Amino acid sequence: MLVRLLYVSQSVGPITTTVTTSILEKSSANNKKLDITGVLCQGSGLWMQVLEGERTRVNTLYSQIMADRHHQNVQLLSIEEIESRRFGQWSMALVYLSKDDPMVQMAHPEFDPYSATAKDAMSLLEELIQTSTPIVTMVSI
Ligand SMILES: Cc1cc2nc3c(=O)[nH]c(=O)nc-3n(C[C@H](O)[C@H](O)[C@H](O)COP(=O)(O)O)c2cc1C
Repeated sequence: MLVRLLYVSQSVGPITTTVTTSILEKSSANNKKLDITGVLCQGSGLWMQVLEGERTRVNTLYSQIMADRHHQNVQLLSIEEIESRRFGQWSMALVYLSKDDPMVQMAHPEFDPYSATAKDAMSLLEELIQTSTPIVTMVSI
């Protein structure tokens, strides 16, 4: 059974290139092995991530990610059963969700994933992917 999970979290400390690169390297290797795909969104001290794959595997990985000391206040926004993947081409892609980015700010001045509906958060993610081209596209499956 395939599921899609969406969560948001707050970074502990600044999100440096070193942290991001290390996460993407782990994700690239591990997610490929687990047949998990998705998108990781970062910016303004926040992470938002979509994980798609077999339910037990997604749950196990999510528990592991939740325990990661790089972030806190990990909040599940949604988990749904799906017929097909939306982000099947990426073991993990990175897009920036930045209030520092004037384009994002202009389009979404009020956006706060902690109070947004899962539907709105997912729509924003999809919009960012379509309009900004994922910044880093890790190993394609
Ligand atoms: C925001 C965030 C997203 C992450 N996403 C993934 C992921 O998609 N896949 C993955 O294997 N690890 C991910 N990680 C890293 C895991 O939390 C964990 O460090 C890793 O899976 C296991 O690393 P280890 O083999 O060093 O124990 C993420 C970490 C953070 C902070």
